[in-house]
Amino acid sequence: MDFDQVLNHLRQLHEGHDDLRAFCAFPTDVVAQPVTARHMGARDHFDAETGLFGNEYASTKTLLKQMGPLAYWRDTYAGTNVSDRFMDEFGCFSLIGHNGFFKSDQMNAWMVYMPAGLYYPWHQHPAEEMYLCLAGEAVFKKDGAPDIQMGEGGVTLHASNQPHAMETLDHPVLCYVVWRNEFTTKPVLTYDDAT
Ligand SMILES: [Fe+2]
Repeated sequence: MDFDQVLNHLRQLHEGHDDLRAFCAFPTDVVAQPVTARHMGARDHFDAETGLFGNEYASTKTLLKQMGPLAYWRDTYAGTNVSDRFMDEFGCFSLIGHNGFFKSDQMNAWMVYMPAGLYYPWHQHPAEEMYLCLAGEAVFKKDGAPDIQMGEGGVTLHASNQPHAMETLDHPVLCYVVWRNEFTTKPVLTYDDAT
């Protein structure tokens, strides 16, 4: 894989969306770093996924599928009360940040994938966060705001420690997710019973 090309792709993706660019400038200190591939069940679901409709970000979807076998798939919620199905099917790997293909002190970025019919319980973290929906669709929930159903090109912003959750209904979803300001504290579930 040509990581210069990957980085250029991510920069164009990021800078091509007004809200993302306004939320956080694409970092100027990005360097590639080695990644030890780590398999999770979600990788297999993502490989086999055919329901991520939408054309605008088709090339990003293709690139993320190519990166899947090389990526460190994360188990952020291991040891919590999330369901076994969530542990098996919720997909996330870092693009920029810890265990990611690149590192930066200015911004972290991930891909997040959820198959159809999966619920991501309420959670929160000190970092401010923006989700860009690349393909498919999901219902995005955040404390103090109405639920929104978003498809390709949609964005939602989470303030520091603002609880948020996600649910896919009849379709899967693929997102590009960016953190700014506080990268060292992992997300925690808002409720002990993972609702
Ligand atoms: Fe989040």
